Amino acid sequence: VPAPRLARELGLGALSFKNEMVNPTGSFKDRQVSVGITHARTLGADTVAVVSSGNVAASTAAYAARAGLRAVLFMHAFASPDKMAQAAAFGATIVRVDAPPSQVFSLCIAACERWGWQHLSTAGMYEPWNVEGAKTIAYELFQQYEGELPEWIVAPVGGGGLLGGIWRGLLDLRRLGLIKDLPRLCGVQASGCAPLKQAVDYGTAYLDTLRHPWPNPQTIAGGIADDILFDGHTVLPAIRTTGGCVVAVEDDALVAGIHRLARTEGLLCELTTGVVMPALEELARANQGARVCAVLTGSGLKDVNYFARALPEAPLIAPSIAALEGVLGV
Ligand SMILES: Cc1ncc(COP(=O)(O)O)c(C=O)c1O
Repeated sequence: VPAPRLARELGLGALSFKNEMVNPTGSFKDRQVSVGITHARTLGADTVAVVSSGNVAASTAAYAARAGLRAVLFMHAFASPDKMAQAAAFGATIVRVDAPPSQVFSLCIAACERWGWQHLSTAGMYEPWNVEGAKTIAYELFQQYEGELPEWIVAPVGGGGLLGGIWRGLLDLRRLGLIKDLPRLCGVQASGCAPLKQAVDYGTAYLDTLRHPWPNPQTIAGGIADDILFDGHTVLPAIRTTGGCVVAVEDDALVAGIHRLARTEGLLCELTTGVVMPALEELARANQGARVCAVLTGSGLKDVNYFARALPEAPLIAPSIAALEGVLGV
C-alpha cells in the first residue's frame, strides 16, 4: 500500500506498507501457521500446541479448526484479552501461564512430549517449518515492487522469526539470480524489551543472547515482548549482514505513531505494530530521500477495546441542529 502523504511528511523518497492486517485472522502469523498446520497434518498429528501472546493463538485456533485438529494454546499472563477471545471463538483450549515467555515455552514443550502433540510455536529453534511462511513476504514484495525492491525494509521484532524469515526469503531471491543486492533490514523493538537492540549494540553472539533473557519485559507492545531471541540465528545476521539497524521505541511514541498512521493514511494497526511509526521517523531523519517499506504486522481491530478506552466517548445528542451545533462548536 503506497503511503505518499507520510512519505512527504517524513522526507522519504517513497514509502509503502506491506499490509499484513488483511490476512484471514488479521496478522502475518497466518502465513507461518498455515505452513505449520499443513506439516502437522502430514505427520498425522491430531493436536497442535503453541505459546502465544495472542496472534499465533488466533491463527493456530483458526487453521486448526479448518484442518480438523485440536489446538491447545499456552498464553502469556499479559496476553491481550481481545486476541484471547478471538482464539476462543474457534473452539481452542486456552491456558494462561504466569511465567516469563521462555518458561512458558518449557511447559508447552513438556506437554507436547508427554501427550505427543505437535509443537507449532512460531520460533524457528523449536519449529523450523512455520517460520518458512514468513519468507513469502519477501517473495510477494519482489513481485509487488516488480523486481525493484526498496532500500530499506522495516519490521517489528519479538523472537525474530518474521524479520529473519524475510531475510531468508531475500536470500532465496538472490540465490535464484532475481536480485543482486538485499535491502537493508531495520528491526524495531519496544524499549521495555529490546534484546535484539542490546545484542546488536554490544556485538553479542547468538548463543550468548540465549543465556541472558531480558529480565522484565515491560511494554504495551505485547506481541514483541519476547525475553529471548527465539530466532536470533536468523534475525542477528539479517541485521548484521545487510547494513541494517535496530530501533527501540517507547510506549507513548508507538501510541502516537498509531494515530499518525491512521489519520494520515487510513491504516489502523495494532499496538505491537505501532512501533514501526517512530522507527520510520528515526530512519527518515538519518536517510532522507530513501525508498522504504514497512510491514504492518497486525490489525488495529485486535486492540479495539484499547482504543475504546483511550479515546473520548462520542457525544450523545438530541436529533436537532441546535444540539449538533453545540457539540460541533459552530
Ligand atoms: C503483531 C506482531 N508483530 C510483530 C511480531 C514479531 O514477530 P517475531 O516474534 O517473529 O519477531 C509479532 C509476534 O508475535 C506480532 O504479533
